[in-house]
Amino acid sequence: MQQIESREQVHSITRRWRREGLRIALVPTMGNLHAGHLALVEAARQAADRVVTSIYVNPTQFGEGEDFASYPRTLDADRESLRQAGCDLLFVPDHSIMYPAGLDDAVRICATPSLAGVLEGERRPGHFDGVVSVVARLFNLVGPDCAYFGEKDYQQLLVIRQMAGDLGYGIRIESVPTVRESSGLAMSSRNNYLQPAQKEAAAALNQTLMEAAAKVGREAVDPGLAEREAEAHLLSLGMPVDYVAIRRSDNLAKPDDECVSLRVLAAAWCGQTRLIDNVEIKSVGILPL
Ligand code: PAJ
Repeated sequence: MQQIESREQVHSITRRWRREGLRIALVPTMGNLHAGHLALVEAARQAADRVVTSIYVNPTQFGEGEDFASYPRTLDADRESLRQAGCDLLFVPDHSIMYPAGLDDAVRICATPSLAGVLEGERRPGHFDGVVSVVARLFNLVGPDCAYFGEKDYQQLLVIRQMAGDLGYGIRIESVPTVRESSGLAMSSRNNYLQPAQKEAAAALNQTLMEAAAKVGREAVDPGLAEREAEAHLLSLGMPVDYVAIRRSDNLAKPDDECVSLRVLAAAWCGQTRLIDNVEIKSVGILPL
């Protein structure tokens, strides 16, 4: 596996691969890789001839007071994990490569408001604009056939899929199910902020979402009631909630009688650490709408 930093290198290598007719998959990350990231690399490897992974902690997607400065940076360990996972090219740009005009003068993309303005976007204004701005740049630099994203960040997945379609990239946006600890806790670089006891307690987030999903999907409980019960339950466990929301899987709108698939999405706090998770609602009958 080769590691590169410059635009010229990434262009010349990917141009050569395209000329040879090889299919290229991109896995964008911010590093501090865990089994969730590696599942994306694995899926990409199955589908494409060459896998490019990028590691870049993107400043434009962090809000004021968020953890940009303290975000874990573990490049040596990440390189080794990627090498073992069969990644072909590791792209590690710095700010001058990703934003050559400087952060203040960078061209920014505005993510689809209806998708990006709710849930995470409401709590983290501008976050998804930063995400699509950097992902579009990576798409331009690498020119992949397909790109892999985790369901762990379900709203991000939809926002990116919409951006790629709307801007006409012609890149297939593929998704990979959330990889979890045995407790159910979704793997995340931010889990590193948790003390061991907190890490155990944090599993309640996934358990609570699974219960809410079962209530709605199997017992036909009203989604609003299931949301309120989940929120109260998490609060009773000492986990304040930013949101618990049952939404359409395709566009994150509130459930209506047209929708075929629902998801429950949540953000909650465990001490100083903000956790997000989501699960699909598997319906055994008609959803209670
Ligand atoms: P990062 O948090 O590093 O995540 C990179 C990719 O890994 C994302 O697609 C994310 O959904 C996926 N991922 C993270 N944890 C996962 C898990 N437990 N199971 C499955 N997939 C998981 O998301 C970002 O970086 C950034 O916003 C990025 C897209 C790179 C743009 O800067």
